[in-house]
Order: sequence, then C-alpha cells, then structure tokens
Amino acid sequence: MEVEELKVKKRIKKYNNEKKALISILQDIQEEYNYLPPEALKIVSKSLDIPLIDIFGVATFYRTFSLKPRGKHLITVCLGTACHVRGGPKILEEFKRKLNIKAGETTKDMRFTLETVACLGCCAIGPVVVVDGNYHSQTSIGTVDSILKKYRKK
Ligand code: FES
Repeated sequence: MEVEELKVKKRIKKYNNEKKALISILQDIQEEYNYLPPEALKIVSKSLDIPLIDIFGVATFYRTFSLKPRGKHLITVCLGTACHVRGGPKILEEFKRKLNIKAGETTKDMRFTLETVACLGCCAIGPVVVVDGNYHSQTSIGTVDSILKKYRKK
C-alpha cells in the first residue's frame, strides 16, 4: 500500500502537530496501513520535528507497532508456561502448517500474520489464541481450522 503524504499529514494535524501525541499518531498510522511504513515515519519526523531515530525507538518499544507489513488478521498464540503445558506449541505448529509460514511471518496473500507471546495474563483459560484482539480460550488443534475458516471470510 502506498503512503499518501496528505493522509498522514491529516492524521498529524488532528493532534495539532503536538509532539506528545506521537504514540496516538503512530497508532492511527498503524491502523491505516496495518504497520508503520518508513515513508510515513519520515513524514511524522519532519512534521513533529522529532529525530527519526527516536520515532523508531518508540515504534520498536511497543509490541503493538510493526515495522514490517502485517496481514489483515493478526493471530497471536500464547506460549507462556501455562499455555505451553496445555498444548500451546502444538497449536502454533498447526497454524504454521496450515498457513505455510513461520511465527513472525505473514502469508503471501497478506491475509494472516502469525505471532507468539510469552503470556497474556489469562492463564486459567489457556491455551489462548488471540485474533485481532479477540480471545479464543481453551483452544486445541481442532480450533485452528475453525479460527482460520472464520477469518478467511472476513
Ligand atoms: S501463559 Fe498463556 S495466558 Fe498466561
């Protein structure tokens, strides 16, 4: 997706070009493009007069931001201890096999990005898989198919 300078500038203007709104601006850009395109970060850097290196620092600090293009749907498989002992790794393997990608990668059709996380703080309902912010509890290998079917249509 090409970055439109005007669109990015509009988003920045919404926050009156205020430096303290950097995170909100990055969130807006991430929402628009599903990641933070370098061209957009350069525009933010110029408009807010914040060095590009500092913007990259913020972008890499928060997990929610991605500097690589992400798919339309973000699948996060929990591999924290509680989810791990309940079969998290097998669920991850199934997603990898079905999507034909590794963790951290995106499918060629840009539909899915697969990620892992160390713990989501809801260990009692594990193994947990989060898709686009929606929690799927007590998942099993069988759940993988139904999750993919559901989000393939969206
Ligand atoms: S280990 Fe998965 S939610 Fe805590």
